[in-house]
Amino acid sequence: MSAHRLKTKALCRRWHRCSELGEETISGPTSDIVVTNGRLVIGPQVIQGGVAIKDGVIAAIGRESSLPDSKEVIDVAGAYILPGVIDPHVHFREPGLTNREDFASGSTAATIGGVTTVFEMPNTVPPTAGADAVMAKRELVKPKSLVDFGLFGMVGQTNVDRIEEMAEAGVIGFKFYLHQTIEGMPPCDDGALFEAFQRIAAVGGVAAVHAENPEIIGRCSAHLRAHGHSDVTANIAARPTVSESEMVARCIAYARAAGNRLHICHVTSAESVDEIASAKRRHLPVTAETGPQWLWFTEVDAAEKGMVLMFSPPFRSEGDRKALWDALQDGRLDMVATDHAPRHREEKLVASVWDAKSGFIGVETNVPLMMGAVDQGRLSIQTYARISSENAARAFGLWPRKGSLLPGSDGDLTIVGVGAAHAIEAERLHSKAKVTPFDGVSTTGSVKYTILGGQVMMRDQNVTGSPRGRDVVRA
Ligand code: DOR
Ligand code: ZN
Ligand code: ZN
Repeated sequence: MSAHRLKTKALCRRWHRCSELGEETISGPTSDIVVTNGRLVIGPQVIQGGVAIKDGVIAAIGRESSLPDSKEVIDVAGAYILPGVIDPHVHFREPGLTNREDFASGSTAATIGGVTTVFEMPNTVPPTAGADAVMAKRELVKPKSLVDFGLFGMVGQTNVDRIEEMAEAGVIGFKFYLHQTIEGMPPCDDGALFEAFQRIAAVGGVAAVHAENPEIIGRCSAHLRAHGHSDVTANIAARPTVSESEMVARCIAYARAAGNRLHICHVTSAESVDEIASAKRRHLPVTAETGPQWLWFTEVDAAEKGMVLMFSPPFRSEGDRKALWDALQDGRLDMVATDHAPRHREEKLVASVWDAKSGFIGVETNVPLMMGAVDQGRLSIQTYARISSENAARAFGLWPRKGSLLPGSDGDLTIVGVGAAHAIEAERLHSKAKVTPFDGVSTTGSVKYTILGGQVMMRDQNVTGSPRGRDVVRA
């Protein structure tokens, strides 16, 4: 706090000194935008006040009386002011799969949902699996993006030797699909995985893993199929919790030996949480995410709702679901990520699970749902600020530029409130593919404004800004 006060005081002193000297210019605005009458969530504290942003960067925070003048003043009427929300796991499907989503539609959905930064996944066509693909994707998507973005590079069996060039090209992290071949790229075997982790350690990167064991899944699937199982619960039976937790444990063992940072994507089970907690107790640099879908739905819901809950990894028991909430609360899980994976009805809501595509959207509904959970007392607002923004920024080397309301941080704010319950309506969402299991689910959380680099990108659910997203290269 003292750092903020010092900065605020410094601004005031400058202003007063000018005024004593009688300079004419001091009556002019000294910041570009001031957000007032909010509740700032800063570390363990919630402070009444506001934020001043100048040149895209937070210039001051504190009580209204301490903030500099501004061209634009927004009174947020008591809403919470959070550091801009980061969704560290989205699939915006560009290039190659843009009938499902592209950066314009995906980032519109993100902005309306209160997200200011996304980390975008490389399982596109072609996959983002070399420096050329990283740079081409950046050029392609930057002019369309309403949010800041980091790009993941993909690593599989045949491109381990391209890790260094992708690091050079500025990827936010390296993504491993350990459960299946992606666009012709088979998953790493154990030898390639360990070598890849060593190379990532050498470039100071983060390995992010989709941790499921393909051999267990393959064998179970074949068995279930042969016995005529084809509803959505067969996808759950084919992917027992050990197929996830064993791969989590294996990745932790290799990362410990290689010395790299490791991030576990979409954790769904208590067993996996135990492996991650054990790594954290040993002070290994291991972080992990889970998503609203696993916090809301179980295998029982899948049996009831059917193919809409086709997702990989799948939905687990009520005990697992509860373990995920507990782990977010006490820090064994670090962050919420949606795994926003748009799928059209025709490719998903089909008769047999063996033909159904896995995934659904989530980037737009995440913050309203999680703020509803804050309203219900499942999480404190301070914990939510950490798991929605700060921890992702820290894990991927962006803090305090992102994930922080400190002066000097990017002027990214997510301004949220709670109020009357309202139901999510899939057809009103902004992604190209509307299928979501949250259609009709009620929440009391809402997003009032999304501010990116001091620009109001969304106000009362309307987009007000134009594309200005930047690639946030890992520090
Ligand atoms: O269900 C999923 N869908 N899981 C993944 O890991 C990938 C994603 C996709 O890209 O559709
Ligand atoms: Zn995945
Ligand atoms: Zn994913």
